[in-house]
Amino acid sequence: MRITPVSWRGRDVISMRDFERKDLEALFELAHEMEKYAKRGLDLLRGKILAVAFFEPSTRTRLSFEAAMKRLGGEVIGFSGPEGTSVEKGETFADTIRMLDAYADAIVVRHRLEGAAKFAAEVAESPVINAGDGSFNHPTQAMLDLYTIWREKGRIDGLRIGLMGDLKYARTINSLLEGLALFDVEVELISPEFLRPRQETLDYVSARGLRYRLRSRLDEVLGELDVLYVVRIQKERFLDPLEYERVRGAYKLTAESLRGAKDDLIVLHPLPRVDELDVSVDETKHARYFRQAAYGVPLRMALLRLILS
Ligand code: NCD
Repeated sequence: MRITPVSWRGRDVISMRDFERKDLEALFELAHEMEKYAKRGLDLLRGKILAVAFFEPSTRTRLSFEAAMKRLGGEVIGFSGPEGTSVEKGETFADTIRMLDAYADAIVVRHRLEGAAKFAAEVAESPVINAGDGSFNHPTQAMLDLYTIWREKGRIDGLRIGLMGDLKYARTINSLLEGLALFDVEVELISPEFLRPRQETLDYVSARGLRYRLRSRLDEVLGELDVLYVVRIQKERFLDPLEYERVRGAYKLTAESLRGAKDDLIVLHPLPRVDELDVSVDETKHARYFRQAAYGVPLRMALLRLILS
């Protein structure tokens, strides 16, 4: 197995902005190698403990981190939801993180509040991995999304990539845009006007050379896309439930709406889906989102191995 690049060892994973293209390339190469062991397992992290602290719901992110750690021969402790922990007795976030820091070698955190992972990294000596905080950062999902594109298309450079849905509140979108800015791609941002990415994100990625266009309809660009990444309207991040009702169901992708797409277009989605991605798409040759979710294990195996060994 390849030598771990020094740049990864002991590192926190808080935002995509902290990573360079060469870091991601090292991660992808190793993740590809880890695919062989994603079911079989191998003993690289025996004796190491990963703490998972999920203050917000999760299926894929938490379980793929846990599976990845176990496949590497390590152990997992932690919780999913504050029920049953001292958080219910009023323990502060900082104290909870301090305890996990004492018990484990790395901490994976998901939290409703933006900045929670960065704060945890300031409190903890062990590496902290952000598994999604607030509506801004979800770096390991972006790494997984980029890996899926790299694996399924054989490259990232030169592709035209559409991002569709709630581009404002979906943290996967912010992180993915920051990651895409490290590559030579063209991005089509397809959403209602008020769900366009935050200006700060757009300024950040365009300063790094990312070329993007704002679109309001998929059919304006569908035929030119190599990748279409769909996200859910983030109900829990809306302050006004009426506003949510107004947009849910708009920007829905069906097998029918994919007519006119390139033959080799791939459709991705971080999941969970609600109304925006119809089950009829599952049967098309374009669907890759379940494979994307499955890549979560080898990708996170590679990540844990790079950080912990
Ligand atoms: C995402 C999340 O939690 O941000 N899910 C995930 O990690 N795969 C996407 C979402 O909730 O819509």
